[in-house]
Amino acid sequence: MKPIRKAVFPVAGLGTRILPATKVIAKEMLPIVDKPLIHYAIEEARAAGIDTFIFVTGRGKEAIEDHFDVSYELEDTLTKRGKKAELDGLTASLPGAGDAIFVRQQRPLGLGHAVWCARRIIGDEPFAVLLPDELIYGTPGATEELVTAHSRIGGNLVSVLDIPREATGSYGIVDPGRTIDGMTEVRGLVEKPKPAEAPSTMMLVGRYVLQPEIFARLEDQAPGAGNEIQLTDAMARLIGAQPFHAVPISGRRFDCGSKAGFLTANLALGLERPDIAPALRQQLSEAGLVFKS
Ligand code: G1P
Repeated sequence: MKPIRKAVFPVAGLGTRILPATKVIAKEMLPIVDKPLIHYAIEEARAAGIDTFIFVTGRGKEAIEDHFDVSYELEDTLTKRGKKAELDGLTASLPGAGDAIFVRQQRPLGLGHAVWCARRIIGDEPFAVLLPDELIYGTPGATEELVTAHSRIGGNLVSVLDIPREATGSYGIVDPGRTIDGMTEVRGLVEKPKPAEAPSTMMLVGRYVLQPEIFARLEDQAPGAGNEIQLTDAMARLIGAQPFHAVPISGRRFDCGSKAGFLTANLALGLERPDIAPALRQQLSEAGLVFKS
């Protein structure tokens, strides 16, 4: 079985749910505590053994490329000033030379189309996909959980989370079969079903391990929900032809593409940081905000 070495990060989205903050700043560059959102996804992928990072970008997303580049002037200044902690924070988890690849999705045709844009770089091997605005916080990370499951069972895998039925219309939903060893057989996949029509409340959280055969399905995939080429629809066409399983995430999920999710992630992660938590707690309480310790 081929190991998972490459990961695709679709980052071409316009971030309309979080305007006007994302008018000139890529939503993936918005900070959660002191790191941009995309940085967490890279760390999660790296912890899963990924060594090739493929960003599917769009116009106005140049800051992402700059963020993962070496910043010579800044590093030199920090070195001369003896600011070791800041320097380490800046250089830790930067992709090495040639490890980050950027390809543009020229038209906003959907998530499926974005992943398809990476086909020549992926070639003939299984790969991971991470949607960075879904921040999944925990150890092991969601991608590592999928890679571990893949090494046992192979095929295609998706990370899932149980959600309230009224929310199914915003997500990809699994039609589940039997669960063995913590992995649920995927019998069907539906993108954004109405609550009454959803086959379950098992939501796709934006972490995938896919076989390269997905690209042939994406190639001729008709537009689906929202008139976009949906990854979910192309994955559904692999069911039956290849093994397909869902793995629940053990970490906590924050939908950072929404204003409330973004703010919650900042508070939750800030309150876990020993260097920030005491001051954050105090300032929250001084501001009269309800805080349960
Ligand atoms: C995408 C996927 C959907 C998944 C969701 C997770 O939807 O198409 O299956 O559940 O991400 O956030 P989008 O948020 O792009 O509408």
